Amino acid sequence: MSRHDEIKNAYKSLGGEATFYDGMITCSTLLGKAVCKLVWNMNKRKNDRYLELALSGIPQDFSGKMLEIPVGTGILTMPVYKTLPDADVTCLDYSADMMERAKRQAEKREIKNVCFMQGDVGKLPFSDGSFDLVLSLNGFHAFPDKEAAYREVFRVLKPGGRFCGCFYVKGENKRTDWFVEKIYTAKGYFTPPYETAHSLEIRLKAMYRKAEVKTVEGMAAFRCRKDGSDGK
Ligand SMILES: C[S@@+](CC[C@H](N)C(=O)[O-])C[C@H]1O[C@@H](n2cnc3c(N)ncnc32)[C@H](O)[C@@H]1O
Repeated sequence: MSRHDEIKNAYKSLGGEATFYDGMITCSTLLGKAVCKLVWNMNKRKNDRYLELALSGIPQDFSGKMLEIPVGTGILTMPVYKTLPDADVTCLDYSADMMERAKRQAEKREIKNVCFMQGDVGKLPFSDGSFDLVLSLNGFHAFPDKEAAYREVFRVLKPGGRFCGCFYVKGENKRTDWFVEKIYTAKGYFTPPYETAHSLEIRLKAMYRKAEVKTVEGMAAFRCRKDGSDGK
């Protein structure tokens, strides 16, 4: 089975168990809190902190074209889109099962400005310079071809476009690194190689301007901007 298929299968099973996945990613259920503490050394406050940092790259009154990759179950972002009625949002993911839940979240909240597409971040079906903002929460540690993903995000951003999000970085917490290597990577949820906070900062600063990286335990939150057409 190819690495792409392994990942699809790994996340397929999570689509049906979204209460566990959603509880874990939001650090809100008893089991989710236990996983956050054990694997990530995070309580709810720290979990909320890294998500806040990741989402802080979206201007409050954002009204342009935005791409979210990967949307997963939408548990983290549908509440955000409810507050951005003038944004034109495209959500993309490999996994139809995860995305089915995101669609239901959007319907439940009567969010009208979001569309969903199944696809591969390594081959985005959009022309160059299509988006004002790309958001990626917890994706880059999962993507099988990270170089292609970085390239594609840059390509589809307009000059002056923003890129923000978060993902796991190694070297911040030994216990997290152990779990990522022995369990998350082995099960196909995460795919090496992994960035460190330092390597991520160097990468983003080489591609974008005003790149900022902040960590909360083993999670790095980042935001950066592509140069404008006038070089600003
Ligand atoms: C950990 S989940 C994150 C989902 C969501 N952003 C969140 O934070 O809850 C990782 C997601 O990446 C998706 N994924 C993995 N490789 C992908 C690829 N090459 N293209 C698109 N989505 C991919 C999986 O299907 C899964 O839904």
